[in-house]
Amino acid sequence: MRQPAAETVDGDPRILVTGGCGFIGAALIRYLLAQTRACVLNFDALTYAAMPAALNGAAANPRYAFEQGDVADGRHVRDIIARFRPTWICHLAAETHVDRSIDRPADFVHSNVTGTCTMLAAALTYWREQGSRERAHFRFLHVSTDEVFGSVAGEGCVDETSPYAPNSPYAASKASADHFVRAYHQTYGLPALISNGTNTFGPYQFPEKLIPRAILTALAGKPIPVYGDGCQVRDWLHVDDHARALYRILAGGRPGESYAIGSANRWRNRDLVREICHQLDALQPRRDGHSHAAQIAFVDDRPGHDQRYAVDAGKLRRELDWRPANSGTAGLRDTVAWYARPDTAWRDACRARYAGERLGWADMAGCGDGP
Ligand SMILES: NC(=O)c1ccc[n+]([C@@H]2O[C@H](COP(=O)([O-])OP(=O)(O)OC[C@H]3O[C@@H](n4cnc5c(N)ncnc54)[C@H](O)[C@@H]3O)[C@@H](O)[C@H]2O)c1
Repeated sequence: MRQPAAETVDGDPRILVTGGCGFIGAALIRYLLAQTRACVLNFDALTYAAMPAALNGAAANPRYAFEQGDVADGRHVRDIIARFRPTWICHLAAETHVDRSIDRPADFVHSNVTGTCTMLAAALTYWREQGSRERAHFRFLHVSTDEVFGSVAGEGCVDETSPYAPNSPYAASKASADHFVRAYHQTYGLPALISNGTNTFGPYQFPEKLIPRAILTALAGKPIPVYGDGCQVRDWLHVDDHARALYRILAGGRPGESYAIGSANRWRNRDLVREICHQLDALQPRRDGHSHAAQIAFVDDRPGHDQRYAVDAGKLRRELDWRPANSGTAGLRDTVAWYARPDTAWRDACRARYAGERLGWADMAGCGDGP
């Protein structure tokens, strides 16, 4: 681990970000380096989902350092915390794809449950060793999802008071981690907080997820898969808005509290994919003159698929003055344009790790590999 330069440390937070090579973690690090004076240590296992290219601009920054490691490796976690001495920890490292959680739930227990417990235990030991000023200032933010609340009925929204009802192995692992975070605050007094963010979109998302997958399969001239009847509703939050919300929660959130993050930018999946196709028609028209929408293919639904997510972010707005700035149509248009760039290096790197195959369905027998 290269230590970030010492002269920037005094008075400025030192933030340990786990999973910082992932989609949201990298956006958070870009935000921290550009908009704050924080020193950042990125601790990431570099799984298939990691996008180191999302941090190309950070590598030479004296306020940034990277260390490869697994959040479930207690010795390594304790070691980096002791060496880096964070003011705050922002814990994003996780397995995140619902379809993969259906195939391999044990991987999600390892990274999301054991990994979070390992981070909490190391953070607690470190926090207890600090002086009273440092202890009062310390924060541990667990970056979680609104999927822990399950499908939202009717026209309602979830908020911080909603009951937990996870429906996928992914959501169950994040819910479990949330409960441990809460327990560490209640039992030991660790100044821990939880964010429950909704579906996030933007540049550098691994192309197994709906939006980049729709764009890249459309451009490749392949069928664009839409699960079931495509009437599932999602509340889309731009990754830069998500990153800014995380910083607000770290800097001003109340320990022991959770904060729901959403933008009320709600789309049915089928409408969202159609909108993406129309934007691609303008950016890169098909040679035969047809719309990319002709490639949409409705495929068998995901088992246990939640019908509707909708988040009320009123608490974040009222307490921390956060509002989404990029989550509307312009953010979606910029995102589609970003994925449609002729950046073959990025696409090739993703293709080497994921060829676009259907996950979470073909081998339901594989789900027996429990921990
Ligand atoms: N993407 C979303 O729509 C969304 C929405 C709400 C909340 N979240 C949460 O935000 C966090 C980040 O999500 P994302 O979309 O950026 O994820 P991602 O899959 O893009 O990236 C995850 C990162 O974590 C790393 N990682 C995985 N397991 C690890 C381990 N055991 N040790 C260390 N590093 C490990 C990976 O290498 C990768 O860089 C997750 O905790 C996720 O549950 C995501």
